[in-house]
Amino acid sequence: MNPLNHVAIIMDGNGRWGLKKYNSRNKGHRAGLDTVEKIIKISIKQKIKHLTLFAFSTENWKRPKSEINYLFNLLESFLKLKLKKFHKNNIKLKVIGEKKFSKKLNNLLLKSEKITKNNTALQINLALNYGSKNEIVKAIKKINGKKLEVTEKNITNSLYTKNIPDPDILIRTGKTTRLSNFLLWQISYTEIFFSHKLWPDFQEADFLKIVNKFKKIKRNYGDI
Ligand code: IPE
Ligand code: IPE
Ligand code: MG
Repeated sequence: MNPLNHVAIIMDGNGRWGLKKYNSRNKGHRAGLDTVEKIIKISIKQKIKHLTLFAFSTENWKRPKSEINYLFNLLESFLKLKLKKFHKNNIKLKVIGEKKFSKKLNNLLLKSEKITKNNTALQINLALNYGSKNEIVKAIKKINGKKLEVTEKNITNSLYTKNIPDPDILIRTGKTTRLSNFLLWQISYTEIFFSHKLWPDFQEADFLKIVNKFKKIKRNYGDI
């Protein structure tokens, strides 16, 4: 049985779900938050140490302003509402990506990271304004700035995910089989699962099915 430390998720399909059900993409984003809560709970139950959630990519700025505003307002109210509960449940919150948002949101994110920084049950890595290529370029610039050698170790330690083990599992929901610039460096040996379900329809049982399948996989890492 493979040990499971880290699950990363590309939470895709909110817009299509909302359009189909309520003729509103934003309603899909709202519903997606309920799935986020379910997956956090089950991750704690499963004793998973890291849950990395792709919430907003560096490319998502191409979307209409109204949708972007809705998403960030949703995030802000969710965090305000849940921060205490997260802290009480021993959850640590970390943002990966460039924190270039409104002053209010930046401060809230910093505060959430600070308050929860010593928590040990589950670390939620929230990928916000995250793009893997941007992350790698920044890492190499950092290495050059420090006049260090460009090595795998130095790159790994210069990414947003410094000190976070590579994901064991990557899940993408929403019937799309691409990576959309997510964790390209970190998933070199990750087991990848694509779900046909749209994110708001993704349930604990779907998650557990993937976890159980993962546990039985023979991970070779190039060996036999
Ligand atoms: C993913 O759902 C969530 C974000 C990118 C914020 P989408 O909004 O991409 O949903 P679809 O893919 O359009 O259905
Ligand atoms: C990936 O989904 C980003 C997030 C889930 C936050 P997208 O919906 O942005 O991906 P593409 O554009 O379809 O590849
Ligand atoms: Mg999408």
